[in-house]
Amino acid sequence: MLIGLISDIHANVYGLQAAIRAIQKAKADLIICAGDIVGYYPFVNETIDLLKQEKVFCIKGNHDAILIGEQIVEKSRWHDYMLDYTVKVIKQDNFNWLRKLPLFLDLKLKGLSIEVYHGSPWALLTEYIYPDHNNFQRFSSLTAVDYVILGHTHWPLFYQINKVTIVNPGSCGQPRDYKPGACYALLSTEKRQVSFHRVSYDIERVIDKLQTLKFNQKFIDILQRTH
Ligand SMILES: [Fe+2]
Repeated sequence: MLIGLISDIHANVYGLQAAIRAIQKAKADLIICAGDIVGYYPFVNETIDLLKQEKVFCIKGNHDAILIGEQIVEKSRWHDYMLDYTVKVIKQDNFNWLRKLPLFLDLKLKGLSIEVYHGSPWALLTEYIYPDHNNFQRFSSLTAVDYVILGHTHWPLFYQINKVTIVNPGSCGQPRDYKPGACYALLSTEKRQVSFHRVSYDIERVIDKLQTLKFNQKFIDILQRTH
């Protein structure tokens, strides 16, 4: 079985489309998203409609939880995440769909145990596990788990400790590792291998739309930055 892994779409439907197309071309059997479906970018309903259409297995990220009122943040952060726009445009059925998403997934597939968290198993929505994390040792306590899939940092990550493999596919909507494009990963359950990929898409087209809608310039710049 081949599993496509994506995360941190942030309503950038163009990045999502590019990642999904590439994953489908690789003939993946299913796609898992590690949260942060909304926030930052404006294509809220297009993103959720595509996730529904392609039957992507999703969990909530912190931005999703904030939008639906499950996590409370100060008003300045709500504005910064562009959630005023999101809450204005989101269709009721898409809001309800977000609300019903689980906070984590515990999957048994082809004899493998795969757990999916946005932040970490210890702080589901808030902890950042970056590639230079200083306490991967903690993951070795998850003795019954083969793969832990994470999101939240927008940085791809691969780390093995004892029997556990920790994977963050990176962000398909807003990578922060200075390499433009849409990140995704592929997990082969037979080979027990993970490969990391990044697919280019028409970022100019996204930026045109963001500028027309007067979206925050820093979220425009981050899509293109290389240093
Ligand atoms: Fe995110």
